[in-house]
Amino acid sequence: MNLAEATRGIAVSTSLDIEKIRADFPILDLKIDGKPLVYLDNAASSQMPQPVIDRLVRYQTTQHANINRAVHYLSETATMEYQKARCKLQQFINAREDREVIFTSGTTDAINLVMQGYGRKFIQADDEIILTTLEHHSNIVPWQMLAQEKGAKIRVVPINDAGELDIEAYKKLFNERTKFASLIHVSNALGTINPIKEMIAYAHQQGVPVLVDGAQAAPHIPIDVQDLGCDFYAFSAHKLCGPTGIGILYGKAQHLESMQPFKGGGDMIASVTFEKTTYAAIPHKFEAGTPPIAAAIGFGAAIDYLSAIGIDQIAAYENELLAYATEQFNCVPGVNIIGTATHKAAVLSFTIDGIHPHDIGTILNHDGVAVRTGHHCAQPVMQRYNVPATSRASFAFYNKKTEIDTLITGIKTVQKVFL
Ligand code: ALA
Repeated sequence: MNLAEATRGIAVSTSLDIEKIRADFPILDLKIDGKPLVYLDNAASSQMPQPVIDRLVRYQTTQHANINRAVHYLSETATMEYQKARCKLQQFINAREDREVIFTSGTTDAINLVMQGYGRKFIQADDEIILTTLEHHSNIVPWQMLAQEKGAKIRVVPINDAGELDIEAYKKLFNERTKFASLIHVSNALGTINPIKEMIAYAHQQGVPVLVDGAQAAPHIPIDVQDLGCDFYAFSAHKLCGPTGIGILYGKAQHLESMQPFKGGGDMIASVTFEKTTYAAIPHKFEAGTPPIAAAIGFGAAIDYLSAIGIDQIAAYENELLAYATEQFNCVPGVNIIGTATHKAAVLSFTIDGIHPHDIGTILNHDGVAVRTGHHCAQPVMQRYNVPATSRASFAFYNKKTEIDTLITGIKTVQKVFL
């Protein structure tokens, strides 16, 4: 199983023991209105396995103190464990150095860090920033704020009806004023996997650095930032079976060193006088204040958990789920899949003729089925398809085909109730 296969929607048999995996997730035993929980909202947030919960408890009960500040046992232990978590993330994405991994509060925070630290310093009036139609609001709004402040312009790569980027149009957007590209790797609303490596290579040929929003990619695709060649890569722990409130920004060291800090405060300084402050080296320059220490250590434990299963195994199994679900959806009249890209992650956005997505979500909830309904913080995608919202089932490696059957039964119930 190579990366190309793992990411191309090919159904590949895997050897994952799903029942054994499910036993690690206590929340999957919940009943909703007496019905077994069918959790299909993993693109919003995945669930946490017992080993990660245990790691958080062990940290809080035996290792907690503030970090980088004292010589006592607990402070040194917490500092070491926090740093170990950084190294786990470094290995997970194959970053060259651990100082290239900045802990942030999540993907949104990471993108805002780059906007503030890189964008405000290096982007000027009339410069252009390239985004795509597929972006999540968190990779649109920060750049709009910067463009407004500086008088810069946003240029947007269009998509076709399948939800795939028009790569020729992308190439044509570049000109001498293009200063930055901030691109989503996998669409949260449609599941489209973008040809990000090729897009980065093209931007670099034009001398333009690239940030990749990897929030939906890191849980499903092995990420190698050196192979991708990206300048920045951002994702969150809570979509990777880890805690909320923590994520990372990967940045090439030379960029991070050239950037101004985003937040000022404790721990990010070398020295402070009322006349002048000098900043700490990376990564500390970008980690002002007491960080979410427990969450970072929990993130490290989640990475251990997923790595033990294998992201390529996870990708292969999720592709099986996606292929099965797509087949089942296509058999139900009146159900329309929104986003039919050839290369997709395990996300199925859909509409049902004549029924509002919120009604779909409400009825499915009565059957214990959790899907997300709404615009998925990707309103430009909804505008492109001329729909106010969709319903979205998003799968994780602990989902089963029988849960997809329950979803399909639920959809038929929705149609009976409303049509
Ligand atoms: N961005 C997350 C989602 O797609 C919250 O649901």
